[in-house]
Amino acid sequence: MSVSKEEAKAEIERLSDELRHHNKLYYQKDAPEITDAEYDALFRELQALEAEFPDLAKSSSPTQKVGAAPSTKFAKVHHKIPMLSLNNAFTEEEVEEWDKRIKNFLNLPENEDITYICEQKIDGLSFSARYENGKLVQGATRGDGEVGENITENLKKIRNPDPTKIIFTYDEPNFPSEIKGKNIPAIFEIRGEVYLQHGAFEILNSTKAEGKKFVNPRNAAAGIIRQLDPNASSLRYLAYFIYGWGEISSDFSMPTTHHEMMEIIASYGFLITPHHPKDKNVYKVLTTNIAQMLEYHKKIQQDRSSIPHDIDGLVYKVDDRALRERLGFAGRAPRWALAHKFPAEQVVTTVENIEIQVGRTGTLTPVARLTPVNVGGVMVSNATLHNEDEIERKDIRIGDTVVVQRAGDVIPQIVSVRTHAADSHKYIFPLNCPVCGSHAVREEGEVARRCTGGLICEAQAIERLRHFVSRNAFDIEGLGEKQIQSFWEAGLIRAPHDIFRLDYETIKIWEGWGEKSVTNLQAAITYARNITLPRFIYALGIRHIGEITGKLLSRHYVSYAELKKAMLQLEHGSEAWNDLLSIDGAGEVMADALREFFHEEHNLQILTELEKELTIADAELAQTDSKVAGKTVVFTGTLEKMTRNEAKSRAESLGAKVAGSVSSKTDYVVAGSDSGSKLKKATELGVKILNEDQWLELIS
Ligand code: IVH
Repeated sequence: MSVSKEEAKAEIERLSDELRHHNKLYYQKDAPEITDAEYDALFRELQALEAEFPDLAKSSSPTQKVGAAPSTKFAKVHHKIPMLSLNNAFTEEEVEEWDKRIKNFLNLPENEDITYICEQKIDGLSFSARYENGKLVQGATRGDGEVGENITENLKKIRNPDPTKIIFTYDEPNFPSEIKGKNIPAIFEIRGEVYLQHGAFEILNSTKAEGKKFVNPRNAAAGIIRQLDPNASSLRYLAYFIYGWGEISSDFSMPTTHHEMMEIIASYGFLITPHHPKDKNVYKVLTTNIAQMLEYHKKIQQDRSSIPHDIDGLVYKVDDRALRERLGFAGRAPRWALAHKFPAEQVVTTVENIEIQVGRTGTLTPVARLTPVNVGGVMVSNATLHNEDEIERKDIRIGDTVVVQRAGDVIPQIVSVRTHAADSHKYIFPLNCPVCGSHAVREEGEVARRCTGGLICEAQAIERLRHFVSRNAFDIEGLGEKQIQSFWEAGLIRAPHDIFRLDYETIKIWEGWGEKSVTNLQAAITYARNITLPRFIYALGIRHIGEITGKLLSRHYVSYAELKKAMLQLEHGSEAWNDLLSIDGAGEVMADALREFFHEEHNLQILTELEKELTIADAELAQTDSKVAGKTVVFTGTLEKMTRNEAKSRAESLGAKVAGSVSSKTDYVVAGSDSGSKLKKATELGVKILNEDQWLELIS
């Protein structure tokens, strides 16, 4: 249908006005009158007319504005106290073992009571909110646990819809922007989960066009809280619960238990994590009895559907704060808490094909391509098959009907074969890399088959780059899988340092890259030029060097220069070699992998180039005002007042480096009873020797 220019002009004006009206309702009044689909239809109609009559298209047209989102990205927020995750248990035995481990660590008899609190594990996204002198000054996402994103304005919009009411009758935002009460500390940081109730999720999704719907409440909450426009209407659907705290200034007298602290937080006007929905005295689910906790877990699992939001298990926490302090952390999770997850969801689907993925260290991982199926709210179309033995063991063939399971954030897995298809055929594992064609070998004692292509294998190179920019490494937003692939194909990025020498003018003229996305990418890359040592080590993607070992190394060597110097001297039996092995947690396998990496000329070249581009910050050792910060300590013999593990964990939390063996670099040897060869060596080397009491005095 063709229209005259006059008609087009009038229609363009009408559509523009209408779209502006709906924009306002949506973005400013939080009250859309039409669905996304209806909005899209109007938008496209206007676009079509403007395309047909370009001279009638105005720069002020709604088609020229990208929603109402501000163009800036979130600022980064450094968490003074890291936001950690939780260790998971899926079985009752694992919960019992956890209880035993705690008692073991604290040197308590098995029949001694510890009070635990059981909380719902809310399936949302964690956040932190910081109040200074009672005023909300900063809200942040967890991010990688150390650096999150500033979402202060978004937090303020949370309304906590009452599930018994109809959604648009909700009150004003009710996330406290100010706290009132007695003895409010100068710094008060609380932590919790933002999430969506089922009702809110359904209503929100009903306004979304097909294909734009959120797959589950958790994804929806994550998308909404991280959206850039604080006036977006979707923010009002969010709800939150507080489950803990971060930094609290010393002017506050902390209660001795978790549950009392939560009661104080509630008295300041926050919603705290609820317990059993049928419990009228909401908070106190305290028990010393593991059997009771397991009972409670069963009960809440049965009643799950009566809870208005998704929970994926219970969290058990030691209630006593003094015990928690002693228990401390291991890796990314506290020893004093445990997530007891509900069993994984299982569904049946078909294996359509088996393909190989080549990882950054050359490992060939078989992946099953499945007929897409919904597992607990998430569409699953791939499942890892781990390695060739696993395929053999489960006898998984192409065409088979299989049981697939997904638990939490874990990659979906095939549990078992339901039936072999009549025409199913066994998968023949390749003996060559499907990407570069090099031999794929399986070393003795290893389950993985590995491509030997090394530097010539394109798949490995691309995977290494992807790893380099990933979240816990350089964390470069806007440089994901897709972009790496296309920059690689265009020859723009072949090695990590190329990232910092990108020609933005070239990218700007590529299809799909607007001025704005290039500016954002450039900003993200500039930001990434400053990196911490543990992240840098992790980013290198060295075999056997993950995040935790990256941290161990950075704590030991403190600066990049020291690390590199030592790595270049790694030879079996050299001083540097023995020093590396003295790190508690380091072993021969790791040392070998490091030696190999730092002996490879190509890797050294990359390091030299990266050094020109980056500032690598020294490792931050905890509590630098402690007398043992930065000192190397070796514990030996039997300690009386605490277990060796507790002593080690405490020393590390004070910034000391705990080594497994004595060398000239050791500052203190703490000797309990029955100390043997380490004590002897310390005496020979003239290292300062302390008994347990002297050590405790030193750190008190
Ligand atoms: S306590 C030091 N309590 O689960 C760790 N976490 O899987 C403190 N979560 O990152 C976490 N409900 O986002 C805690 N009642 C609860 C929770 C909870 C949900 C989330 C939290 C955490 C994740 C770990």
